Amino acid sequence: MKHVAILGSTGSIGRQALDVVRTHPDLFSLYGISAHSSEAPFLAQIEAERPKVAVFSRPLSTDVSGTDVRWGDQALYDLAADPQVDVVVLAISGIAALTPLLSALKAGKRVAIANKESLVCGGDLVKKALEVGEGELLPVDSEQSALFQCLENGRRDEVEKLILTASGGPFFRRPREELKNITPEQALKHPTWSMGRKISLDSATLMNKGLEVMEASRLFDFPGEQIEVLIHPQSVVHSMVAYRDGTVMANLSTADMRLPIQYAMTWPRRMPSPAAPLKLWERPELTFFKPDMARFPALQMAYDCLKAGGGCPVVYNGANERAAELFFAGALGFLEIEESVSFALDRFRNRPMRDLEDILAADGEARRLVDEFQKTRRSK
Ligand SMILES: NC(=O)c1ccc[n+]([C@@H]2O[C@H](COP(=O)([O-])OP(=O)(O)OC[C@H]3O[C@@H](n4cnc5c(N)ncnc54)[C@H](OP(=O)(O)O)[C@@H]3O)[C@@H](O)[C@H]2O)c1
Repeated sequence: MKHVAILGSTGSIGRQALDVVRTHPDLFSLYGISAHSSEAPFLAQIEAERPKVAVFSRPLSTDVSGTDVRWGDQALYDLAADPQVDVVVLAISGIAALTPLLSALKAGKRVAIANKESLVCGGDLVKKALEVGEGELLPVDSEQSALFQCLENGRRDEVEKLILTASGGPFFRRPREELKNITPEQALKHPTWSMGRKISLDSATLMNKGLEVMEASRLFDFPGEQIEVLIHPQSVVHSMVAYRDGTVMANLSTADMRLPIQYAMTWPRRMPSPAAPLKLWERPELTFFKPDMARFPALQMAYDCLKAGGGCPVVYNGANERAAELFFAGALGFLEIEESVSFALDRFRNRPMRDLEDILAADGEARRLVDEFQKTRRSK
């Protein structure tokens, strides 16, 4: 029996991870959950799931019995490192996941990681935490899980390239001029996946794929030159690995995140899953296109940041997180998201990221630069 902590249990991934735990009462028992701002759904989860520990960002307004309720950042890091926990599902969104990730890895946990921002920003620190502790990282992101599974079939030095698939988001076929006035509501309508709002927006701008290029590089230790992106609107092939003999291994399934979540938790074993089986005969048309970098500059910027290293990936991510907040608040236009990221990267003086403080400083700088961009735009 593995004891599981789900960090970010109220989110899209967190709720699906709970479903996986419920599906396998013989394998998993829920030890802890955490959430940030959704108090009512969090209280409902405590009531329904009865975890041993529940961590919220502030004191809850209602008393809860039977569960040890804690609050604040330190309580979150402690839950990630709790000696009773075997598997941490990291389903928090944004760079806020970095400290709990480091905490869990240093304590030797298996981390089923959905969060990509922490890997993009904390690459070297995560690597070090893996080296010093007994922790292990198992990818949950469907594309990274697909790569992980395809890589299990060959030797590393036989790999020619990793091929990340991308749905292309809801605006894949729209001319760029039409993207200017996209509203948050339109941006959140993802064609194939149902996800949290930040990642849905990132899929529409292709920032998500940019983050995934960097995430794949961090997870599997391949340079950008060996990572390719292919647009595949049906989201049936989740990613592929091309080997040097010309063989391409692909990972296919229905678009259901419970599958990669579960595999990260049960690896190296495969268990029956709540996901519907894939009926390929009902999906006769699987198509693939090379992405147009000029239409989606977010992708090119990610490759450039990966190559530049240092604080550039942190700024790419931090600027994007801030721009997303401003877009949802109606203070930035859709195309201004990538423009503000580019603005921040142009002004950032790149330097090595030696520790968490350096990363958080670069993240803060990126956010301030986006605010500056927004003010200059609005004053025009
Ligand atoms: N959704 C998907 O299908 C999918 C697929 C692949 C990868 N991912 C990655 O998985 C992560 C989670 O995505 P999601 O779609 O599940 O996001 P989401 O629905 O927005 O959920 C985010 C979760 O994180 C918590 N949270 C937010 N800010 C926090 C903070 N500052 N400190 C602690 N907890 C915080 C939220 O709590 P409250 O709700 O209480 O605020 C919520 O439980 C992201 O990094 C995303 O890129 C998601």
